[in-house]
Amino acid sequence: MPIRPLVDRAYLEQVLLSRLSRGEVQQWVQTYSQPYRELMSYYRCAIMEVETKFNVLNEELSLQYDRNPIETIKTRLKSPESIMEKLTRRGYPLTVESIEKNLNDIAGVRVICSHPADIYKLSEAFLRQDDITLLERKDYIANPKPNGYRSLHLIVETPIFLHDQKRLMKVEVQFRTISMDWWASLEHKIRYKKNLPEMEYVERELYECAEISAQLDARMEKLQKIAAQATEGKDRALSS
Ligand code: GTP
Ligand code: MG
Repeated sequence: MPIRPLVDRAYLEQVLLSRLSRGEVQQWVQTYSQPYRELMSYYRCAIMEVETKFNVLNEELSLQYDRNPIETIKTRLKSPESIMEKLTRRGYPLTVESIEKNLNDIAGVRVICSHPADIYKLSEAFLRQDDITLLERKDYIANPKPNGYRSLHLIVETPIFLHDQKRLMKVEVQFRTISMDWWASLEHKIRYKKNLPEMEYVERELYECAEISAQLDARMEKLQKIAAQATEGKDRALSS
């Protein structure tokens, strides 16, 4: 996973300058630079913990099913620009305490699964773990967003164990199938194109593509079930 290097001071200053005056930035860097780096490091640890949990589940379930329920895991730490932008947009203080208190998506883990059923199986197994606390769950697969976006979102709290303390960190986990992820990443790119002509047409098409992608997921899952039943039948025949 491409873990971002430790945020360096000059870069952080540059980001802050777009939000604060030069005097305030100097003050911020003096007060918060080290705590900011520490906090980001804790979030990186939380990402590692959660990613490991999914690697473990994938290892175990792939033996059981004879296939990998997880295709890929992507992780990201929110950039200083996005953190400052979100705090400003939501009217929260620009402090390190405020980042931890008010933002739930500093640490992000995206689990890309083969089939929709794998998403529910994995998310349930993950949430049953006794060190994971569920803070929020949004099921955009059962209830897609009006633009067609589908994904299962969890905000959880997970402990990280440091040399002298245990700390609870929030992590956003998004579960998608390959086709949900493909759609979402293209939609994201299209949405951020400025002055897009024929917006109505683009939105309608995106919605329709999301519907087609959901149908494709359902059909591929059906084929997978047929294949799984065939394997079970063969295993039964071999063991009798
Ligand atoms: P934010 O975290 O500020 O976005 O608000 P929220 O917590 O209400 O958002 P939500 O849980 O609905 O979505 C959080 C994340 O899911 C976003 O940051 C995106 O990564 C992703 N997401 C949500 N909706 C969409 C969408 O319509 N299209 C795409 N491509 N991604 C989305
Ligand atoms: Mg969010």
